[in-house]
Amino acid sequence: MEGICELKKMILLNPGPVCTSERVKNALLKGDMCHREKEFSIILGNVRKKILQAFASNGNYTTTVITGSGTASLEASVCSSVSEGKKLLVINNGVYGDRISRIASAYKIDKVELQYDWRRQPDIKQIENTISKDLDIEVVAMVHHETSTGLLNPIHTIGEITNKYDRTFLVDSISGLGGEEIDLINDNVDICVGSANKCIQGLPGLSFVILKQDEVKRLRNIPARSVYFNLISQLDEQEEKGECPFTPSVHTFYAFDEALDEFLEEGVQNRINRYRKASTFLRKEFKRLGLKFLLPDEFLSNTITALYLPKNMTYTQLHDSLKERGFVIYAGQGQLNAKIFRIANMGEISMEDLETFIKNLQEVLGDSQ
Ligand SMILES: Cc1ncc(COP(=O)(O)O)c(C=O)c1O
Repeated sequence: MEGICELKKMILLNPGPVCTSERVKNALLKGDMCHREKEFSIILGNVRKKILQAFASNGNYTTTVITGSGTASLEASVCSSVSEGKKLLVINNGVYGDRISRIASAYKIDKVELQYDWRRQPDIKQIENTISKDLDIEVVAMVHHETSTGLLNPIHTIGEITNKYDRTFLVDSISGLGGEEIDLINDNVDICVGSANKCIQGLPGLSFVILKQDEVKRLRNIPARSVYFNLISQLDEQEEKGECPFTPSVHTFYAFDEALDEFLEEGVQNRINRYRKASTFLRKEFKRLGLKFLLPDEFLSNTITALYLPKNMTYTQLHDSLKERGFVIYAGQGQLNAKIFRIANMGEISMEDLETFIKNLQEVLGDSQ
């Protein structure tokens, strides 16, 4: 207990869970509530309404919130959207593209996988060619913002292709929504997966899926592959009864509701602009400090910068020195694990915090010379 109460305040520069406001944290204390009572239905309804208000306000979309991390909603989307005998096309250029592929394998869903260099955007011609030739491809899945590298994928272009060939476009925007421009309507996104605890600045434990109404009709014909991770049963229970099929993380809903209020008060575009300003500042400073970037500038997202580790330092040395000073940075994943580190600028972090971080980083790098 003592250890928890005395937890030092850390500036989290990892891509979620992020630093949250006092307002969001305090929402947890609203009190105990039974999830089968009308009070919970009101909160659930408000959360769903605010998600749609933020990301898909034209009335053609609906949403379901799932208790579970981002992967829960991703898994529900993948295993609920591909018909028996049809295929999923996975565009894979990072850890999270790979995760989509692993989910498909776990459910024995037939898939075609196009793998690309993690430092590049995918080959559009090859993707169009694959989709046009293989009529069994029913769903095309891609990550919007590859959190493993900080690379932005070309949502709009792929959406044009899936629309042209009348396929479902499933987008993992778990680290994109709220941090990057995405227009579900104009980008032809049919199924979009998001999470509470990244750019929306809520707490970990809730994720959601935004679905086109037409897509819901199609999904109804697909037999359930899972009891918990079933988009249709999750959605129907929420729409028809205002309830979740299984016990939801009630208190995390309070916090998510508050985070969505903060988000809408700030404005979606202003939130994106705030993150862009932060990453622009950080990148200018990283260049000044002589750090080398993993990606070319044109692929960079607003919220993650992947940098090669300095030659004379391991990740652990860098991480531990910065943590002692109050900053949590993030390691590389998969094939980049020993080569890079990542700095995320999602969450409730001020420009002053980032300036202090840069001063500390400069000192830590200097100490190692
Ligand atoms: C793009 C993307 N997809 C999926 C996930 C998995 O989310 P979670 O760790 O919340 O399950 C993450 C987490 O960082 C992510 O960034």
